[in-house]
Amino acid sequence: MLDLKDKRIVLGMSGGIACYKSAELVRRLIERGATVDVVMTDAATHFITAVTMQALSGRPVFLDQWDPRMPNNMAHIDLSRGADAILIAPASADFLAKLAQGRADDLLSTLCLARACPLLVAPAMNREMWAAAPTQRNIDQLIADGVDVLGPGSGSQACGEIGDGRMLEASELVVELIAFFQQKSLLGKSVLITAGPTCEPIDPIRVITNRSSGKTGYALARAAWEAGAQVTLVSGPTALPAPYGVNRICVETAQQMHDAVMDQIQDQDIFISVAAVADWRVANIATDKLKKDGNNPPSLSFVANPDILATVAAIPNGPWCVGFAAETERLSEYANQKRLRKGIPMLIGNLAQNVMDADHTTVSIFDDQGEHVLATSTKQDVARQLIRAIAERLPSSMQKP
Ligand code: CTP
Repeated sequence: MLDLKDKRIVLGMSGGIACYKSAELVRRLIERGATVDVVMTDAATHFITAVTMQALSGRPVFLDQWDPRMPNNMAHIDLSRGADAILIAPASADFLAKLAQGRADDLLSTLCLARACPLLVAPAMNREMWAAAPTQRNIDQLIADGVDVLGPGSGSQACGEIGDGRMLEASELVVELIAFFQQKSLLGKSVLITAGPTCEPIDPIRVITNRSSGKTGYALARAAWEAGAQVTLVSGPTALPAPYGVNRICVETAQQMHDAVMDQIQDQDIFISVAAVADWRVANIATDKLKKDGNNPPSLSFVANPDILATVAAIPNGPWCVGFAAETERLSEYANQKRLRKGIPMLIGNLAQNVMDADHTTVSIFDDQGEHVLATSTKQDVARQLIRAIAERLPSSMQKP
C-alpha cells in the first residue's frame, strides 16, 4: 500500500551501528511510495558506504556542505525545501546534542537548523549513553522544540549489553512515519477494540469457531493508534502480529473476551466491537477427547454466550460504542435493526461473502442519519476512513477543544 505516496523524506544518518537498519529503511520507504534523499555525516560513512545508500535510494547521497553538485552551493537549503519531513535514523547521542544546541557544523546539522519541515529522530546508542543525564536533557529540549522522538527500543545491543537505546526496527520506523502524516482525530482518547473470532471448546482438541481473519479489527486498531489514541485490542486467535503501538490482550473464548473487555472498560472513551463472537458455547465441555462411537455422531448442547457489545452499550455513562454486522443478504435492513437492538450510535456493516479473508473491503456506516456507503478500498484505508467517521460523530463533549 502506497501510504507514503508523494512524500519526500530526507533521511539523515549519523554514526552508529544501527546504520545497517537504515539500508532496509530506505527500501521500505520507497516501497511505500516515498522519495528518499539520504544525507550522511562523516561518522555514518564509517558504518555503511554512501554507495550502498545511493544504490538503495536511487538518488545521489549528500555528505558535506561543500558539495559542488548543488549549483548554488546551498545543499542545506535545497534539500530541506520541498521535503515533507526529515528523519534522522540513526540519531547518535552526539548528533542529538548538536540538534538540542542548534549547532550547524556539518551538512546534516545545518540542514536541520535551516529546515522548514518537521523533524523526527530515531535515537540509537548504548543504554548508559541513553540514560545519561545530558542525553535525557537534550531529548527533553528537542521535544520542547517540537521534534518527534521515535523510540528508542529496548533489547540486546551491539556492545553486548541489554537495555534501552536500540534504534527502532526499519518496519517500526515506517509505521511511525506513516502515522506521523495521519490526522490526529482521536488524540488523547482511549479506544478498546475486539477483533478476530472466538473459539469455543468441545473437548481438549476440538473447537467451534467463526470465520474471521481479524484483519479489519487489527486495521482499526492501527488506524486508531495513528490517529493519536491509546489503543487496547482484545483479540481472539488470529495469525496476525500485534499492531505496533497497541496493547494486545489475547483470548480464546467469548467468556474470556467478555471478561477481558470488562476488565479494561473503565476509562475507555470508545468501544469498537469488531470480533466475530460465537453466540453459543458448548454446555458440557468434555474433559477428555471424545472418541468415535461407530457412526453415531456426538450430540452437543449449547448455552448462550454473553453479548459483549450489548453489555458495554448498557453501561451508564459508558464508552461511545460502535458495532459490526457481517451479513450475507439484506444488509441495510439487518444492520439497522441490529444497531437499534444493541442501542448503539453507529454500526458498520458489510456483506461477508465479498470480503472474507480479503485485503479489500466494502462497508456501510449506519447511524441515526441512515446508511453511508464507503468506497471499496484496502482494509487499512477503510479503517482510517472509519476512524475519521467515528471522530466526527463523537458527541461535542468528547470532541477535541
Ligand atoms: N457481539 C458481541 N458479543 C456477542 C455477539 C456479538 O459483542 N456475543 C458483537 C459483535 O462484535 C458485533 C455485533 O455484536 O459488533 C454483531 O451483532 P450480533 O447481533 O451478535 O450479530 P450476529 O451474531 O451476526 O447476529 P445475527 O445472528 O442475528 O445476525
